[in-house]
Amino acid sequence: MKEKINIGIIFGGKSTEHEISVRSARSIISSINTNKYKINLIGIDKTGRWYLNNLTQFLSARNLLQATPYESITEEIIITKKDDFTGAISMDSHQYIQSLDVVFPILHGSFGEDGTIQGVLKALDLPFVGVDLLASAVGMDKDFTKRLLRDAQIPIARYHCLYKHNPHRFNYQQLIDELGSPIFIKPANAGSSVGVHKVSNESEYHVAIQDAFQYDIKLLIEEAIIGREVECAILGNEFPKASVLGEIIPKTNFYSYESKYLNSNDAQLNIPANVDDAVADEIRNTALKAFQCIGAEGLSRVDFFLRNDNSYVLNEINTMPGFTNISMYPKLWEASGISYTELIDQLIQLAFDRHSRNKNIVTSI
Ligand SMILES: Nc1ncnc2c1ncn2[C@@H]1O[C@H](COP(=O)(O)OP(=O)(O)O)[C@@H](O)[C@H]1O
Ligand SMILES: [Mg+2]
Repeated sequence: MKEKINIGIIFGGKSTEHEISVRSARSIISSINTNKYKINLIGIDKTGRWYLNNLTQFLSARNLLQATPYESITEEIIITKKDDFTGAISMDSHQYIQSLDVVFPILHGSFGEDGTIQGVLKALDLPFVGVDLLASAVGMDKDFTKRLLRDAQIPIARYHCLYKHNPHRFNYQQLIDELGSPIFIKPANAGSSVGVHKVSNESEYHVAIQDAFQYDIKLLIEEAIIGREVECAILGNEFPKASVLGEIIPKTNFYSYESKYLNSNDAQLNIPANVDDAVADEIRNTALKAFQCIGAEGLSRVDFFLRNDNSYVLNEINTMPGFTNISMYPKLWEASGISYTELIDQLIQLAFDRHSRNKNIVTSI
């Protein structure tokens, strides 16, 4: 019998999206093809320490939203490389305890989706699922993403950046003269709507800025776009494919953290989105172009606002989108003919493909 592939599923992490990552990991564990893959569960706690988890105990743990419930922890580890071994080493015994062939870092937000973990895995020469270092970092930063999108002539919302060292750079009245009212304030690097505010007057503006600066030293002040929120899933390396479109129908003021994760009844997903075929095709092509213009490979979910007149703007590119079996990204592929289990398998194959392609690159002479 062929030996199973040792996959490290790294999840949790030092991010505001820790709990969402745990949910995504739970879904992956329940659906991955276990005839082909041996699962090694690597939970990162909120302080950034790495632990190997026992799979059975993890699945029955009481605290369902922690990457490292105490009853399932087996060892504190680091991932490193020595001779032919790449994998987990026990922090206590300093023994090699688990080798890894590939890693699925199902981490969202800071330290997970922003190129940091990708850099670690790259330095260890481990194949990993998802977008590489550079595009992860770019995709995480809404300002840098927009600069590249603008270069590719992809429509984006007008915005300014505000830095923590110069918080009074703008006069509120001048901002709304230029951008209209309401405006959106958001951290450049965050996700899941954490720190995102819709602001309609000056006092709300000051409160929003103060809150958003907790999450980043750079904020975006953005014109509000009135339109439907439609999203497209991209899958592939050099020749990526675009899924059908899906629509989010938030029932609250906007698609907030609460409506995304706490009150699942607050937002509805419509798949496929009810959009004219020609417009849908144009948006799908734009999503592909955006994916390639930031240099992404593997997967991304590209989010748009679609106005009533069928014009649209690209809002953001999520390089590690929510990945539970009921999240938009897997649902879009399901509607496009790829099951959740098959999707996980394809993503892992893409990780191996990229890794073997890049092996041929000369890095020293
Ligand atoms: N410029 C905007 N116009 C209208 N709605 C916006 C705008 N920016 C953000 N939103 C609303 O806030 C939500 C979260 O903002 P987003 O930029 O997608 O950040 P995140 O990375 O946290 O998802 C969006 O899904 C949308 O509902
Ligand atoms: Mg978003």
